[in-house]
Formats: sequence, structure tokens, C-alpha cells
Amino acid sequence: MADRLAGKVALITGGGSGIGAATARRFVDEGAQVVVADLNVDSAEAVASELGGDTIGVAIDVVDRASIRTAIERTVAEFGGLDVLVCNAGVTIVGSVMDLTEDEWDKELDTNLKSVFLCAKEAWEHLAARGGGSILSTASMAGQWAIPADAAYCASKAGLIMLTKCMALDGAKQNIRANCICPGFTNTPMIDGYFNDQPDPAAARKFAENLHPLGRLGEPVDHANAFVYLASNEANWVTGTELNVDGGITCGIWGG
Ligand SMILES: NC(=O)c1ccc[n+]([C@@H]2O[C@H](COP(=O)([O-])OP(=O)(O)OC[C@H]3O[C@@H](n4cnc5c(N)ncnc54)[C@H](O)[C@@H]3O)[C@@H](O)[C@H]2O)c1
Repeated sequence: MADRLAGKVALITGGGSGIGAATARRFVDEGAQVVVADLNVDSAEAVASELGGDTIGVAIDVVDRASIRTAIERTVAEFGGLDVLVCNAGVTIVGSVMDLTEDEWDKELDTNLKSVFLCAKEAWEHLAARGGGSILSTASMAGQWAIPADAAYCASKAGLIMLTKCMALDGAKQNIRANCICPGFTNTPMIDGYFNDQPDPAAARKFAENLHPLGRLGEPVDHANAFVYLASNEANWVTGTELNVDGGITCGIWGG
């Protein structure tokens, strides 16, 4: 416990589960006031109520600009401003280009990539009004390394890494920093769903574990810790970066 985020107000999308919920917990530990935002408002409220203190749970649909605006306005009304936006909500729809429907492609790209554009757009003036702020996103090692039968997901995360760099340049003069993390396979409900979509889920999980040189899947708190650093003043000269939090999976060819 420390106060690395004392005085900061953060909104975390996808905060009701997995990496987002762990990030909410760590941010509260570090003294932030936190808005837990999720499509599943029950889960957002459950996380907020567990954390107590200066934490609220709100509904957000990150593909709907009006819903994003409402959540951000609620944040500013409740806590007086916004310093850190964590664009973490995402979905994964497994399939190759030949298998994915056009609707599935649109859903994946809208939820994982366009959403960050929309959330940043709505948050921008509020971050600038505080003399600067931080836009954080959950990209993926799948934005750097292709995964078979995961075309839309990989494309969405690769786009997010580049969008991060573009926002870093566009925000620099207003002291708005933009950074993303690139997780390896991580123990959350999403990855359970991904493994369950494979022909042999247990074998797929074992295979994924063995791909990581550090010998295990990631845990949500591994990513939450990285977000604490990137959101804090310790990172105030860090912008446009893609921080790999991946047990070494993207270092190179790993024979196990
Ligand atoms: N788990 C992994 O292995 C892994 C690896 C790399 C990247 N990621 C990324 O991490 C992020 C968090 O995923 P997770 O693994 O914690 O999954 P998760 O399924 O536990 O959490 C995702 C959350 O996003 C919410 N969400 C989905 N669509 C939404 C929408 N339209 N509006 C608002 N909220 C919405 C869900 O309700 C859920 O609470 C995602 O962007 C994912 O792509 C995960």
C-alpha cells in the first residue's frame, strides 16, 4: 500500500472483470478515486462496492458514444475531474478471415479499437483541463504476433498499438500521455472462453502456458501493477509506449 496515485481520478472500462477489476483494486490501493465502468453494470457495481471508499460503479457501452459521454460526465460530477482513462474493455471472437462474418469483424474492431478512439475523444477536454493526464489501453501480444484463427482480434490490437502512438504525439503539447500494455495469455474469463473454443481446451491451455518463458499464464494483477506505474507520476516522461507484460512470450522463439 502506498499513495502512488493519490489525488488522481481514474475511469476504467471493462472494470467489472479480469484485468479491469484487478486494476480498479490496485488503483484504490494506491489512493486513486476510481470509476468502475462496464457493459455489465452489476459486475461494475459489485467491484465498486467491494472496494468501497471513493469508488463508484457505472454502466458504459464502449461502442456507444452517448454512453461513454454519460459515464465520463458522471465521473467529473462525482469526483471533480478526470486524470486517467483506462481503455480496457474488449472481446475476442475466434476465427480466420474465411470463418469470420462481417458482423463479427465489425463487433471486434468496434469494441477493441474504435472504442478507444471514442473514449479518448470524450475524455480529452477533461484531461486537458487538469493540465494533462493519461490514456491507458489494454492491447495484446496478439497485436505484435499473429495468432492462427484470430484475425479480427489481432488486427484490432495491432491498430490499438498504433493509435496509442498517434495519441501520444497528438497529446504531447497538452501533457496528455498515451501508453498501452501488451499482455500475454492471462487467467481471466476471456481466456477461459478462448480456450473453450479450441478443439481440446485443456491441451490449448497447457500449450499456452508453455509458450511463456516464465512458465505460467499471467494473472490480472500483473497488468494492474503495470497500469499503476504508467498512470503514476513516476511515468511522467513515458508516452507512446507498448509495455509488454507477457512472461517473455514475445522475446523470440522459445523451445520450452
Ligand atoms: N486475458 C487475456 O489473455 C488477454 C490477453 C491480452 C489482452 N487482453 C485484453 O485485456 C482486456 C480485458 O480482458 P480480460 O481478459 O480481463 O477479459 P474479461 O472478459 O474478464 O473482461 C472484459 C470486460 O469487458 C467488458 N466489456 C465487453 N464489451 C464491453 C463493452 N462494449 N462496453 C463496456 N464493457 C465491455 C465485459 O463485460 C468484461 O467485464 C481486453 O481488452 C482483452 O482483449 C486479455
